[in-house]
Amino acid sequence: MANVHHDHDHQHGNAKDRELKSIVRYIKIAPRMWKSAVNNAVVDLIDPQPGETVIDIGAGMGPGVMRAARSGAEVLAVDPTPFMRSVMGARRLGSRKRKFVKVVDGAVEALPVHDGGADALWSVNTMHHWNSVSAGVIEIARVLTPGGRVVLVDENFADPRHPHSEQWHKRHGDSDHHGFSMVDATDIGDLMSQSGLCDVVADHRDMAGRPVIAVTARMPH
Ligand SMILES: C[S@@+](CC[C@H](N)C(=O)[O-])C[C@H]1O[C@@H](n2cnc3c(N)ncnc32)[C@H](O)[C@@H]1O
Repeated sequence: MANVHHDHDHQHGNAKDRELKSIVRYIKIAPRMWKSAVNNAVVDLIDPQPGETVIDIGAGMGPGVMRAARSGAEVLAVDPTPFMRSVMGARRLGSRKRKFVKVVDGAVEALPVHDGGADALWSVNTMHHWNSVSAGVIEIARVLTPGGRVVLVDENFADPRHPHSEQWHKRHGDSDHHGFSMVDATDIGDLMSQSGLCDVVADHRDMAGRPVIAVTARMPH
């Protein structure tokens, strides 16, 4: 039963195969990547204002982007995966709010935004993908303008109260070695404080009725 064993340090197949597999997986869960109550809650917490520049880091298929575009803010949908940018680009074209949305290549470790260029930013279900948590936090601090807001949230699929926890445990086993359980809110919160952010709150809470790992903060004025 070697194929039920998932280990991030020992990837099977070549890079192209892995990319295809992840695209197939994303298509399977597309309905919940298209609309998402957690993304809605995060964007509502950010409360984008008309004329602001806001960033969805790892925007995916854009559930948060489309929610934010209704506010009249300029929304940057940043994602490193070409497939996600294609879907997001098509979704943007089909939207009446398209002039408020830009789809751009980038990752949390290298945001395509000048210093202080963002009034607010958020990221949902991407922290477990980040290549470097410390580089990501430094980059977030670089792009936030004084007073800028940040909300980072990963759904806690490992929590038995999460509606998809059974699927998650089937996929990842009961090990604690990788995936969402690796995301430590306190570590990320400490890095935020070290990077000059204030009002840092890092905790486990419920959002849209689901258990999540959340970090919120803002750049001082
Ligand atoms: C599970 S999806 C979540 C997408 C979207 N935020 C949502 O809530 O539906 C994870 C996303 O993170 C992106 N991603 C992977 N590595 C990343 C990185 N280093 N920085 C930012 N985003 C990343 C992926 O391309 C993918 O679109």
